[in-house]
Amino acid sequence: MIYQDRIEYKVNDNYHDIIYTKNILRSLNDKITELNSDKKIVFIYDENISNNIIKDISLGLKLTGCKILPKKIKSLKKNKSIQNVLNLIKLFSDLSLTKKSIVMVCGGGVIGDLVALASCLYRRGLIYINIPSSMTALVDSCVGGKTGVNFQSQINLIGTYFHPKTVLIYDKIIKTIPERDFVSGLAEVVKCYILSKNNLNFLNIKRKQILKRDPKITKKLILDSLKIKVQHFINDIYENNNRLLLNFGHTFGHAYEMASDEMIKKDYFRHGEAVSLGMISEIVMSYLETNSFKKKKEILKSLSQIQKILEELNLPTKIKLPPKINKSEFQKKCYFYVFKDKKKISERPRYINFIKSSILKIQEIQNFDNINKVIYYLINDIDIKDF
Ligand SMILES: NC(=O)c1ccc[n+]([C@@H]2O[C@H](COP(=O)([O-])OP(=O)(O)OC[C@H]3O[C@@H](n4cnc5c(N)ncnc54)[C@H](O)[C@@H]3O)[C@@H](O)[C@H]2O)c1
Repeated sequence: MIYQDRIEYKVNDNYHDIIYTKNILRSLNDKITELNSDKKIVFIYDENISNNIIKDISLGLKLTGCKILPKKIKSLKKNKSIQNVLNLIKLFSDLSLTKKSIVMVCGGGVIGDLVALASCLYRRGLIYINIPSSMTALVDSCVGGKTGVNFQSQINLIGTYFHPKTVLIYDKIIKTIPERDFVSGLAEVVKCYILSKNNLNFLNIKRKQILKRDPKITKKLILDSLKIKVQHFINDIYENNNRLLLNFGHTFGHAYEMASDEMIKKDYFRHGEAVSLGMISEIVMSYLETNSFKKKKEILKSLSQIQKILEELNLPTKIKLPPKINKSEFQKKCYFYVFKDKKKISERPRYINFIKSSILKIQEIQNFDNINKVIYYLINDIDIKDF
């Protein structure tokens, strides 16, 4: 029986891998034996993960003969902070970790980004292993090496690039993910399929199996998405060209996240939900920014196809605001945050221009009125043809 699948890639001449496993005990043992570590492992995990999963991983770690130091943490957006990076670094120092010690994280994107940053900074980097536990982490944040914490209300304002030596995907975790977090992660899958030549309609045809988390289908979605992500960052680690396309949906998505964090409540949108709204926004932006009638027609066709796929997967395509929130105030806040996007390198924010599926490009926004139009479209019940 094949108990694991493996994707290998190289970053700056070092080998890294992603292992999809049914047998976590064996995979942990194989991997940790192979690493030249000092046999000290700090195991940091999200307190919401099922005890059975944590027991499996803890047993696997124990069987390696290493000294294990477990630490449970809460995954909240507000905990993705520089103070928590310093708290982790203090913990590593109190435990006298060396550059050959292992920090293993099991959690979603929040804990992953936080722990990766602390692991990168402590003694300029130790051995970091990620076992992703949310769908966003499984299909996206576990690879690529972006670490980060939020600062001054801005998402990932502080961060570095630091790649996990290994990502272990434990298939038993998939069924334990809460529904909203499973669905939210599917937005990044849709994004990867849009960026690649993969058949987008597959997501439509298999929607029922996807939502039921059919093991064969979820495995395919995870491995497809991670392969597409690796292809995009492998020759552009520091995000100057091709890797920027992975930001499709993020100029607007992050703006909606930051505006809702500030005006409604923290975690009003899951990251993936905001990306879903952001992808629709950037397709609408592409429609508004082109003068070609032919291109507009093609974009409209793709918009309705992508909108349908997202909706069938229970992802949002319009913003629903609580009644107490003033729509035009919210619009102003989103507009403000579009200008805070990290891809901005001049006075014009950049977004990912959707030409058609698999053909996208990074572009500056030409007409700032279009930013307001896009946000207005997202928060009101209007049709794109009304513009
Ligand atoms: N580094 C990257 O490349 C990258 C890519 C995408 C997103 N991100 C970051 O990831 C974050 C969003 O990730 P997320 O959606 O995973 O958020 P998250 O880590 O907060 O997880 C979402 C929720 O799911 C819970 N959870 C996770 N796994 C679980 C499990 N197996 N069982 C029960 N509960 C579980 C968490 O406790 C949390 O309540 C954002 O901060 C975003 O900036 C980073």
